[in-house]
Amino acid sequence: MKHGLETSQDIRQQIWKELGRASVDRHHAWRTPVLATVGCDGSPNARTVVLRKVDGNQQTLCFYTDARSAKVSELTKEPKAVLAFWSGRLNWQLRVKVEISVATDGPEIQALWQRIQQSASASDYLATEAPGTERTTGFRIAQNLSGDHHFALLNAQVLQMDWLELGHGAHRRARLSADTWQWLIP
Ligand SMILES: Cc1cc2nc3c(=O)[nH]c(=O)nc-3n(C[C@H](O)[C@H](O)[C@H](O)COP(=O)(O)O)c2cc1C
Repeated sequence: MKHGLETSQDIRQQIWKELGRASVDRHHAWRTPVLATVGCDGSPNARTVVLRKVDGNQQTLCFYTDARSAKVSELTKEPKAVLAFWSGRLNWQLRVKVEISVATDGPEIQALWQRIQQSASASDYLATEAPGTERTTGFRIAQNLSGDHHFALLNAQVLQMDWLELGHGAHRRARLSADTWQWLIP
């Protein structure tokens, strides 16, 4: 079988390995999953985000965002969300049910911001106007930047995963949590 991954333990280990790789390899397809949330009006919402950090022991996935973005309001109201990953190289889809907490201050945020401040992406978190604000003056490349940052860390605690492998003829699918494994009909 592909990858020589026969047992549930092998596959579980490989899933976390790939997630870890994706958090450090900008070319890994799992680097940019889709984060789906419940909108403030109850309707679904989804967007691409960059996977920044993975901790297999704690079963957590981290993301960066602007504290004023819609996803932060949505997650504050309903912390349950789903992350959808697809890799054509692996032929794997991974859907992850998570509970997300939003952090905007404290020593961890200060330390992270010190680092991000030096990078090109600092401006992502320094715009004077919130993401999604309607422009009144048409499009301009130059953004107004303020001295205050709006950086927020999204910490996603994994609750359950749905793993699907597309195979030639036979597909494999399983539902797994930290300590359970269930094969499913694909
Ligand atoms: C490849 C790619 C990566 C992105 N990464 C992030 C990210 O890490 N964090 C983020 O807040 N937005 C990211 N975005 C932008 C979001 O998809 C989205 O447009 C923005 O965050 C506003 O979403 P919201 O209004 O639902 O909060 C990314 C977009 C693309 C296309």
